[in-house]
Amino acid sequence: MDVEKGVAQHYAAYEVLPRIRAGLQAMGLDPDHVRPDDLKQVDEFHIGGAEATAWVLSGLDIRAGMDLLDIGCGIGGPARAMALATGARVTGVDLTPEFVAAAVELSQMSGMADRVSFRVGSATDLPFASASFDRATLLHVGMNIPDKGKLFSEAYRALKPGGVFAVYDVMRTGEAELAFPVPWAERPEFSALARPDVYRQAAADSGFALIHQEDRRAVALDFFDRVRAQAVSAAPSPLGLHLLMGPTVGQKTANMIAAIKAGAIAPIQMNFRKA
Ligand SMILES: C[S@@+](CC[C@H](N)C(=O)[O-])C[C@H]1O[C@@H](n2cnc3c(N)ncnc32)[C@H](O)[C@@H]1O
Repeated sequence: MDVEKGVAQHYAAYEVLPRIRAGLQAMGLDPDHVRPDDLKQVDEFHIGGAEATAWVLSGLDIRAGMDLLDIGCGIGGPARAMALATGARVTGVDLTPEFVAAAVELSQMSGMADRVSFRVGSATDLPFASASFDRATLLHVGMNIPDKGKLFSEAYRALKPGGVFAVYDVMRTGEAELAFPVPWAERPEFSALARPDVYRQAAADSGFALIHQEDRRAVALDFFDRVRAQAVSAAPSPLGLHLLMGPTVGQKTANMIAAIKAGAIAPIQMNFRKA
């Protein structure tokens, strides 16, 4: 079974770019002249959205002139947010060509094309020279990567000495069964959830030192409560993560929230430093 092929097909299933353009038009915006903030409801594909990207960034001491790599960059929302917040140069890499094409186009539409760049490639075989980046990030990607050893050894190779790798993934925290589909996989064959100790061991084997770990379960549940409260009080927004998850968005989200509530999974943040 080719997991990478199945994963890329999963994310490429819905034509995201025309849907986002139509959503922007329905909101009365000119899709070719938007602000990066106008895309936030749809371009941050992880629990906590733009708020979570800000937490991840806050611990990384990023300065203008640094080079950042966002591994599994999706349609580029976190990369654009990082470039805007820090003045750093940000490169995104992602397995799914359709998402990379959308990342490029959305960056042009939002006037960010000169601040970010994107490439198709795998986290387990990064298309970059060794010691190219000061910081690397991974937001909700490892759940699709069975070989955590390769994931960490490649991030280690791509970072400069002293560089920091920030991971924010959904991890296995209990034994309760997980119902499918979930946002990152239609079926169990394409889900590669792992426990925090598996991440820590893979990181240590590559030479990383753990410098920070935080369980974001409570913040995640609060985030979902706020999203639900907003959904019942206001008309549905034409722009949202439903554009990336297709018609089963309700089921995918409900299964994920139920598993978080049952303690089976949790979003966890870990920062590692390269020696
Ligand atoms: C849930 S989305 C998160 C996207 C982005 N990080 C964000 O937070 O908005 C997961 C992304 O990981 C990418 N991905 C999965 N496996 C990958 C791999 N082996 N190498 C690179 N990207 C991968 C998918 O194509 C998808 O864009």
